[in-house]
Amino acid sequence: MLIKHPADIKPSEITPYDIYRRRREFMVSSGLLAAAGATGLFSGSVLAQAAQKFSGLKKSAYSTSEKPNSFKDISTYNNYYEFGTDKSDPVEYAGKLKVRPWTISVKGEVKKPRTFGIEELLKLPQEERIYRLRCVEAWSMVIPWVGFEFNQIAKLVEPTSKAKFVEFITAVQPDTMPGVRLPVLAWPYTEGLRIDEAMHPLTLMGVGLYDQLLPNQNGAPVRLVVPWKYGFKSAKSIVGIRFVEKQPKIAWEVANPSEYGFYSNVNPNVDHPRWSQKTEKRLPSFFANHKTEMFNGYGDQVAGLYTGMDLKKLY
Ligand code: MTE
Repeated sequence: MLIKHPADIKPSEITPYDIYRRRREFMVSSGLLAAAGATGLFSGSVLAQAAQKFSGLKKSAYSTSEKPNSFKDISTYNNYYEFGTDKSDPVEYAGKLKVRPWTISVKGEVKKPRTFGIEELLKLPQEERIYRLRCVEAWSMVIPWVGFEFNQIAKLVEPTSKAKFVEFITAVQPDTMPGVRLPVLAWPYTEGLRIDEAMHPLTLMGVGLYDQLLPNQNGAPVRLVVPWKYGFKSAKSIVGIRFVEKQPKIAWEVANPSEYGFYSNVNPNVDHPRWSQKTEKRLPSFFANHKTEMFNGYGDQVAGLYTGMDLKKLY
């Protein structure tokens, strides 16, 4: 992974919030979305038209009680290599990402393949989930997502018994994404989960942050959120989902198989070949101030998925 070591990141590289606000284009005001919000079509929550804000969100029992990072922390320090490899590149350049119209095709080993418009997905019951996000680079944040469980999509397309894995394919927009002109990764960025991991209630499709639609740099209009795995499993700006029989190749594994594996469960006992995973820097701290927990602290819910597996080998 092309990585800036946490200690190398200067405060000056983090764009101030007001600059970010001025730069950011709210590309979410499609007529359909506005109309749906105005008529209360979003079951479980309402997206108010003028402010593009969610309200009436159900608070999830899966949320951590830890204090969330600020909107500024979460939306100005990002990994989204399609917009550049610096942490400040996504907030600087992702404003141009075209997020409407947006569709996600869902196919493969399913009985009812179909393409969803983003407006349809926003109508699914949304809730607030405050999750820890632990990046493989040994920093972490606490993020109040708005989203819905991935298993809601699966219910609609009905996976067949051959569906053993799920592959997530993300957007490539050469005209808006300067990063895809460089062979940093084999674009599109792809990710994958075993079917039981994907169907687990903790696995979320994120559509918002705090009470707002997802900022582009955080993966608008819809991204994956898998809180017990390293952050790179959380593919941003998803355009395709495939239910497949064989374990798919994932972007970072293809780029550097000796450093990144398919499972990528947060594990303080398996060091990255170039650094320890025992501790993490909880942003905005510049120092490692947290002990990393197995499965990022979600072991009670997910350890059972890995019974009998040697997680030192299958990292
Ligand atoms: N998705 C895409 N399409 N491109 C990326 O470069 N980076 C990943 C992941 N999803 C990435 C991506 C990595 S390395 C991390 S840590 C998280 O997004 C970061 O999410 P955040 O910037 O919203 O915190």
